[in-house]
Order: sequence, then structure tokens, then C-alpha cells
Amino acid sequence: MNQSSNQQAKSPITRRSFLQTTATTVGAAALGSLALERFAHAAGDDTIKLALVGCGGRGSGAADQALSTKGSVKLIAMADAFRDRLDGSHNELKNRHGDRVDVSDDQKFIGFDAYKQAIALADIVILATPPGFRPIHFEEAVRQGKNIFTEKPVGVDGPGIRRFLAAAEESKTKGLKVGVGLQRHHQIGYLETIQRLHGGAIGDITSMRCYWNDAGVWVHPRAEVEKMLGHPPTEMEYQMKNWYYFVWLCGDHIVEQHIHNLDVINWVKQGHPVRCHGMGGRQVRTAKEYGQIFDHHAVEYEYADGSRCASQCEHIRGCWSSVSEHVVGTKGRCDVSGHRIEGENAWRFRGGGKNPYQQEHDDLFAAIRNNQPYNEAEYGAHSTLTAIMGRMATYSGKVIEWDRALNSEVNQAPKVYAFDAEAPVQPDANGFYPVPVPGDPDWLHKIV
Ligand SMILES: NC(=O)c1ccc[n+]([C@@H]2O[C@H](COP(=O)([O-])OP(=O)(O)OC[C@H]3O[C@@H](n4cnc5c(N)ncnc54)[C@H](O)[C@@H]3O)[C@@H](O)[C@H]2O)c1
Repeated sequence: MNQSSNQQAKSPITRRSFLQTTATTVGAAALGSLALERFAHAAGDDTIKLALVGCGGRGSGAADQALSTKGSVKLIAMADAFRDRLDGSHNELKNRHGDRVDVSDDQKFIGFDAYKQAIALADIVILATPPGFRPIHFEEAVRQGKNIFTEKPVGVDGPGIRRFLAAAEESKTKGLKVGVGLQRHHQIGYLETIQRLHGGAIGDITSMRCYWNDAGVWVHPRAEVEKMLGHPPTEMEYQMKNWYYFVWLCGDHIVEQHIHNLDVINWVKQGHPVRCHGMGGRQVRTAKEYGQIFDHHAVEYEYADGSRCASQCEHIRGCWSSVSEHVVGTKGRCDVSGHRIEGENAWRFRGGGKNPYQQEHDDLFAAIRNNQPYNEAEYGAHSTLTAIMGRMATYSGKVIEWDRALNSEVNQAPKVYAFDAEAPVQPDANGFYPVPVPGDPDWLHKIV
């Protein structure tokens, strides 16, 4: 394996550089799909070269879906912070896709800088690390003029979202195709339901609610991390392997999971909230291996038209569980996640459609091949910030305005990215991490 790029020098116009910059500068809009087709066939190869950055569960799944789209696609580069994850993902994908997985050892990159080399080799890159890295990786992929599939969330704090939004602007100027892993936008039941809501099926939408109340996810105690690595972990290694429980990596579960439901409400409302307030805490999941995040949040969001959304998310076993969105309008009501409308325009989705995880890749790759405009970056960033402002509200106990969240100078990132560098949050002598205390003025400057 190799940590440095070996593919810098290229002839001025290659098939790859064409795909990288479809519509970027000279007018790919003018060139259009026919030109792409002709060019690709003239070059004797219409293979789209894919790189995977972050070879965990979702990254491997997204690569599988990208490789299952129509036409020729090859996975040619992989990057991960840890070798074990990259090797596991590579074996799994190779078994499933055979020759479509063509990643030589010198195109497997390990470490914090691995993303740069993998991105350089690809026409399209999948970004699927923990979300704390997303603004950095997205910015680099845009800088290199690559098409992108980025998983959600797209950041964990105000500075990260501003950085992502600036790169999103540049991606539009360059005409890059950008998909964001908020797959409900590619799920036929949601599409048909929300199209009806936008058409006025229940009148003006005056109240909303959405939930991700469930049992929580994996955790890797220190001894297990030591086994994975073959040595006692540094604090940075420990946090990276338990990224879910640290705000600088994950954003808390309100950002990592509940974003999906908040995103649906923003989609229905065709905008983002203007302010919110809420409450939350750590009631059950209090052991030290659960890092610093809360186990429940309840937030009330206010939209520009004065309508409110009641949002809840919970990671506690043995409680009522619901992952859903509902809205009420002046002429009826809608179970958005259940794809059902009640009232004068009653309607029920009859089923059908593809797995949305596959559909989102089918749509993105079709846009690349046909050179059609395709960019989901902005709403991905707005939905992420909606969740971040909810976290700021529950951690602080204050009303948080959209602009305050967006312009927050609280940067959760470490100063240096290295496994022997200082992690941005430290455990106390007993191994417990500091947990935000709502209402405590000493915490506020660390939250928003
Ligand atoms: N759209 C969805 O429904 C959905 C579902 C699951 C996960 N996700 C998202 O996908 C992302 C990954 O989640 P996951 O469940 O695959 O986690 P995971 O822990 O299985 O995978 C993350 C991978 O990224 C690697 N990594 C960490 N930091 C890195 C860095 N700086 N550079 C390169 N590699 C790095 C890790 O070693 C790991 O292999 C998250 O943002 C998550 O929210 C989305």
C-alpha cells in the first residue's frame, strides 16, 4: 500500500479529466450528453472510475451500489484511516463484484491524508467517513474537480458547514454532480407523498412532528479497540474507533441519525427552520464508553411562516420506538413516512420502487453519464445545520437562531490530525468525558 500519489502527471485531455470536469469550465453544458458519449467511445472506454474514502459499513454499501449502476464502473482506489477497515471492505467488494473491483495495492491509501491520493485517481468519489471529516474531504474533491457522492451528515459544527457550503458553491460553478446520502429523496413513496403536499393536498402545513427514537448503536470498549489494533490505543485512536460518541466526529445522534427526519420536514416545508429551543440529556447511557453525547433530545423548531415542528430522538433501549414524520395542514393531515394522506384529498401509496440506497446511485450515475445538472449539496448542508442547531439548543438550554448556528465560531475539530496528536476532548482520571450541562454559562462558549 502506498500513502503518496503516483498518478499526478496526465496528458492535457484524458477520458478521466473529461469526466472530472464534466461541465466545469469549457462548457460541458454545451458539449452535453452526446459529446460525452462520443468522447467516451472514441477513447474506447466509458468506464467511470470510482474511489471510496471511508471503507466502513456505509461506504462499502455505497460502493456496492455505485458498482451496481448501469454501465461500466470500476472501483480503482480506496482510502481509510485504518488498514483493517480498508482490507475488510476490499475483500467484501471483490467477492461481490470481481473484476469491477480493481484496486492495486499502490491504490490503497491509509491514514488521515489518504483521501487526497484516492480522490486524485477517480472520476467520482464516495465520501463515507464519520461526518467530522466531511467538509475537508468534500472541499478537496471539489478542488480536484471530481463528481461526488457524500454521505450525510456533511459536517458537525458551524465552521464545517460554512466550509462545506463554500465548496458547494464551487461545485455548482464547476458543474460537478453531487449526491448526498439523504436517500428518502430517491424513495418513490416519499417523492409521491411530498409532491402531493407541495401541490396543496392538505392545504397550508401548520404543524409537523418527526422522531428517531430507537435503541442506539454499537460501542467498542477500550479492550476491544486494543484487540483490533494490536496495541493499546492512543486517545485519538480510541475516539476514532468510537466516533459515534464524540461530537467532533459525529455531531451527536441528533445530527448523525435524526438528520433524516429533520431533512424530510425541511423538504416538506421547502425551507429550513429559523430558530429552535429544546431539552435533552444523558439519563441511561451514562457509562464512560459512551463518550460525551446525550441519549435523548427533544427540540421545537420554528419555520419562517410561524409553523412549528416537534422533534424527538432517543437512544435508549426498552422505550417506545418510532422513526417517522407526520404533518398537519389546513385541509388534512399526512403520515409522510407512511406515505398516506387523510382529508379531502385522501390518498395512500400503493407500493413499488427500488431500494432508495440503490436508486440514489442510479440517479447520480445517470446524471454523470448524461451530463445533466445534479447537485444536492445545499439542502444536505441545510438539513445538517438544522440538526446541529438542535444540538446547540439541547446542550445549551437556549433559543438558537439559524444564523447564530451557521456563524458559530465553535470549531469541534482537533488542531492536528494524527494518531499521536491531542484529541479535542479528554477523559478525566476515571475515564469519563465532559458532558454538556444545559443552562451552565461555563459551557455556552463550547456549544455555540
Ligand atoms: N444514509 C444512510 O442511511 C446512512 C446509514 C449509515 C451510515 N451513514 C453515514 O455514513 C458515514 C459512515 O458511517 P458508517 O456506519 O459506515 O461508519 P463506519 O464506522 O462503519 O465507517 C467509517 C469508516 O471511515 C473510516 N475513517 C474514519 N476517519 C477517516 C478519515 N479521516 N479518512 C479516511 N477514513 C476514515 C473508518 O476507519 C471507517 O472505516 C456516516 O456519516 C454516517 O452517518 C449513512
